[in-house]
Amino acid sequence: RRVEVAVAGAGPAGLVLANVLRRAGIEVAVWERFSAAHLERRARAGLLEHRIAGYLRAQGLATGLDARGSRHGWCEFACLGRLVRVDYRALTGGAGHWVYPQQELVGDLLAELARAGGPARLESPVLGVGRDGTGRPVLRVAEGGAERTYGCEYLVGCDGAHGIVAECFPPQARRVVRRRYPYDWLTVLAEVSRPVEGVRYALHESGFAGMMPRAGTVGRLYLQVPPEDDPARWPAERVQAELAARLRPAPGDPRVLRLLETGVVRLHARVRGRLRHGRVFLAGDAAHLLTPSGAKGLNLAVADAADLADALIRALRRGDPSALDGYEARRLRETWRMQEFSDRLLGLLHLPREAAEPAEREFGLRLRLAHLRGLAEPGPRAVDFARDYAGAG
Ligand code: APR
Repeated sequence: RRVEVAVAGAGPAGLVLANVLRRAGIEVAVWERFSAAHLERRARAGLLEHRIAGYLRAQGLATGLDARGSRHGWCEFACLGRLVRVDYRALTGGAGHWVYPQQELVGDLLAELARAGGPARLESPVLGVGRDGTGRPVLRVAEGGAERTYGCEYLVGCDGAHGIVAECFPPQARRVVRRRYPYDWLTVLAEVSRPVEGVRYALHESGFAGMMPRAGTVGRLYLQVPPEDDPARWPAERVQAELAARLRPAPGDPRVLRLLETGVVRLHARVRGRLRHGRVFLAGDAAHLLTPSGAKGLNLAVADAADLADALIRALRRGDPSALDGYEARRLRETWRMQEFSDRLLGLLHLPREAAEPAEREFGLRLRLAHLRGLAEPGPRAVDFARDYAGAG
């Protein structure tokens, strides 16, 4: 069995890639280990940058986003009792975000792919990757209870942070650079009293807290906890009290009513040194992992897919591999731009661990408040931050 392009993983990266290739008449197949029900339930990211929403729309992949997504264009920072609002949509001349939960986007993309005649092969994990005598990739998959082998012209690993495609690279091409940040966050999905209209970041002596919009009266909340803290020490009442103390909701602001899901993320970031080995490419979380700060992971995953789709179409339909040859360099450059922004925002949102005494913590907060005020006033510093935040290039 053969296909032109084989894709491992039906997350946003794999599904955008497959949909765009299919629309260009390329024979593409996507294998995914989970079921549709699982993918459509799994709550993850939810902020799409203006340029990414524009790309999806141009590809005819934004029907759900346009029907159910909402626009969003400012964020607020709470610090030392002050609220500083950054109206980044105005500062960038219109580049806001779309709020649309990742799992709904995945559901739409699965439906579009099925409509285009090449449904994703769900509950069909990729088991291993090899090469045939001509150097073309061969993959082994478990499909419908049987093990099968497929050959392809190109294989793309969109199989996320724990994917197996990258593992087929030779050891020297498997190098990863990484950072473990000294910050841990409780992540909470919660029912809130009214829709969250903008992102709120709280810089607080007890640690960072954040509130992001998701869908309707569901919000995503973050709470910095001591490193390696046991989540069992954070029962719902303690989480709610701490969120209220740090986020300082004013009358009329959304309040947390009920916790729906809690987890913990030990913040870390990483980037692979090589995103290509021969005819095998990596895109999305399989290539790089960002912290949730700045909401860049989903956007970068779709941007990788968009770039690679275009390059593969040129190679397969026009016999021009030059765009494929530049893929790795282009994506790494963009990835490091995003990592740098995400790192900068993390540094702003957290006090250094060394700042243990109250006077030092207040010093850190006062510095940050001065910086934040600069981001809110029209001027080059504010415009630069707004452009980075909105992904306006
Ligand atoms: N075979 C088939 N599918 C696999 C395999 C395998 N061996 N291993 C992993 N997968 C699937 C996973 O089940 C998952 O559905 O690959 C998919 C990867 O999807 P995502 O993790 O959503 O990755 P990506 O498409 O790159 O999107 C990145 O996800 O974590 C968020 O913030 C991140 O929003 C960003 C987005």
